[in-house]
Amino acid sequence: MAIGVFDSGVGGLTVHRELTRRFPERDFVYLADQANAPYGGRGGEEIVELTRAGCERLFEAGANVIVLACNTASAIALRRLQQTWVPEARARHGRPVNVLGIIVPTIEAATGLPWTYEAERNEGEKVEAIAVNGVFCTAATAMSRVYEIEIDKRREDLAVFSEPCPGLAGLIELGAPQEELEVVVRDHVDALRRRIGRHPDKAILGCTHYEIVADIFAAALPPETAIIHQPAAVADALERYFERHPEYALGGSGRRDFLTTGAPGPQSDRVSQFWGAPLSFQSA
Ligand code: DGL
Repeated sequence: MAIGVFDSGVGGLTVHRELTRRFPERDFVYLADQANAPYGGRGGEEIVELTRAGCERLFEAGANVIVLACNTASAIALRRLQQTWVPEARARHGRPVNVLGIIVPTIEAATGLPWTYEAERNEGEKVEAIAVNGVFCTAATAMSRVYEIEIDKRREDLAVFSEPCPGLAGLIELGAPQEELEVVVRDHVDALRRRIGRHPDKAILGCTHYEIVADIFAAALPPETAIIHQPAAVADALERYFERHPEYALGGSGRRDFLTTGAPGPQSDRVSQFWGAPLSFQSA
């Protein structure tokens, strides 16, 4: 049984790479929904339906657990699918299957608290936020306010500002030139600084595509702003998940399949550069 990794495009490769380092002997199947990327400007129902179709394809390809390596799908579709579709998929496939997201592990990394932690609130007591987290993400993720809501539930002393970067995932997906990406990233870092009144203390790259250009974000942000990297946070969480759910921690032979709903073939030079070798996707 394989670990499935899903994204609208190449962004999820950042998570895939870390997961394969952590679980080298496991089989992996990656699915990029490039026929429908980017997801960030799409409506909620569309994102749910596309994510469901992608997960079904991954279950058919032998995945038993799927990591949605996409913040947009995790923010908009995950809960709905877990509640309304995964139980039915489990019965239909006649084996344990599950879909996990990447926002929970990211929030655990950002707050330093387990997801199940419940903050005690004293009525009337005013807590001044003392640190600021900036979240660079797609328009759909920003609109969901998932980072603001879930971090505030756990840490009153952390203020969260999301900066939607419409178009950036698409540019990365298409392998846009370095200079163009630098200008776009700098503009968003600047826009966020103006809204907060200063740079954030920590920055979450809340779209997996942005991790491919993490060096551009690091150069645009001041050195004091720590960047929270999702891939490591997700791999840590999956390790803990397999400890709790040995039924999914089955062996493998280190197989790696890369599927796309879009045009099969080699990915952009930027992806090869990030990957360390040319990478080609097969038709899903
Ligand atoms: N990589 C995805 C994310 O983490 C989606 C980007 C997009 O398709 O707009 O949000």
